[in-house]
Amino acid sequence: MMTNVSTTDPAVLGQLVTFPFSGKVAKNRLLKSAMSERLATFSPCDPKERGQPTEELIRLYETWATGGMGIIITGNIQVKKDHLEATGNAIIDRDLPSDYLEDYRALARAAKTRGSLVLGQLSHPGRQVSLTIQPNPESASDIEHPSIAGVLFARPTPLTKEGVRAIVQRFAYAASVLHEARFDGVQLHAAHGYLLHQFLSLRTNRRTDEYGGASLPNRARILLEIIAEIRRAVNDPTFMISVKLNCQDFVYPDGVSGQEWIALAQMLEGAGVDLVEVSGGTYESTQSDVQLEHDHTIPSRRSSQEAYFINFANHLRPHLPYTKICVTGGFRSVSAMADTVRNGFTDVIGMARPLAAEPFLVTEMLNGTKSCAKEDKLPPGQIFRIAAAAAQIAEIGNGYDITDFDNAFNVSRFVARLQKEIPTAMSETFAAGPSMSLGGE
Ligand SMILES: Cc1cc2nc3c(=O)[nH]c(=O)nc-3n(C[C@H](O)[C@H](O)[C@H](O)COP(=O)(O)O)c2cc1C
Repeated sequence: MMTNVSTTDPAVLGQLVTFPFSGKVAKNRLLKSAMSERLATFSPCDPKERGQPTEELIRLYETWATGGMGIIITGNIQVKKDHLEATGNAIIDRDLPSDYLEDYRALARAAKTRGSLVLGQLSHPGRQVSLTIQPNPESASDIEHPSIAGVLFARPTPLTKEGVRAIVQRFAYAASVLHEARFDGVQLHAAHGYLLHQFLSLRTNRRTDEYGGASLPNRARILLEIIAEIRRAVNDPTFMISVKLNCQDFVYPDGVSGQEWIALAQMLEGAGVDLVEVSGGTYESTQSDVQLEHDHTIPSRRSSQEAYFINFANHLRPHLPYTKICVTGGFRSVSAMADTVRNGFTDVIGMARPLAAEPFLVTEMLNGTKSCAKEDKLPPGQIFRIAAAAAQIAEIGNGYDITDFDNAFNVSRFVARLQKEIPTAMSETFAAGPSMSLGGE
């Protein structure tokens, strides 16, 4: 039932969330969505010298831990040291000289100090890796990614069946390291055009074997095998598994769209996934604004301007009796978040960029001292907002003051610097970009 009265009462957001399969309980309905931190070690020449969590990364999570989120999802942790979404990604790879177990333990300890559930997001970029990092990427098929913002991508090699099995093992191994490091669970990144999404989408999956074709169960097979293998490797029913999915790719005519993602979410529920995070867009997305401009089923004008995917979550809700839903993208005000939960569209609200600008925002919203995230004076265009969040993340990690982008002087200095650096800034941050261009700017 839809309510028409919008209120800034945050009480509904402070409710506990119990996850159906692991039995884990989040202390509230607010989730810090994954943001690539780029604060791990990186050597351009020697892949063995990459991906180790640094003290800056740990400081970042100490800060976010005090921010009061029910659930914290880390930025994408790569499962292969030579396939990175960006320089400075954290990595868990069996081939590294050390599995960095102690460092991930320190990270989990830091992030859990105030009782948040902490999930490590596991990912493999597939074809979406810059040519300078990987000139021979692997993917579902050999469909090359177009160059974007001056960043070039190489034509990928399709994974053999043996290669697919190795990828499944890599995800399971990384999950077992995180389990040993005392993370509460993992989130598999199957959104934004990365490898698992490359298998799911007909645009990038042209395989004719049991991992491809028109059949969704075939394209979802790698994801479901990873989940089964994680269960086997971790052997702990209380270990949470979440999946981040695109409800829309906004690429036409062949991206993820329509009803298929709902069928996929149902398969994930069947596999015991506790939480599906709903997102959208890929590097290639172009027409996103048009798509939601015509979306009239969202609960209120205010929410429609603010959050991009709530209508998709609403379509999904009746199909998932057990698995919890998180919807992420664009939420800024207590009223929009509380409306969306009260209307039954979602169980959990995800936020990313606002928590880079204000790491304590959730606590302040829940105790009623803030009803909305900070505004900014950045020029129109998501690229500036994404880069601004990345810069703020580095500042928190380094223990510096966080730049206030509501200050015009800070903005002009930042924009001038960024304009020189744009091509090198390509990363997950851009993948999130198209989805974020839905925000009504
Ligand atoms: C700096 C930055 C890094 C991001 N890195 C990731 C990531 O590693 N994994 C992921 O699934 N999404 C990533 N995202 C996307 C966010 O999780 C989120 O889906 C998106 O920012 C929309 O939410 P928001 O409007 O609350 O920022 C990133 C976004 C930003 C701004």
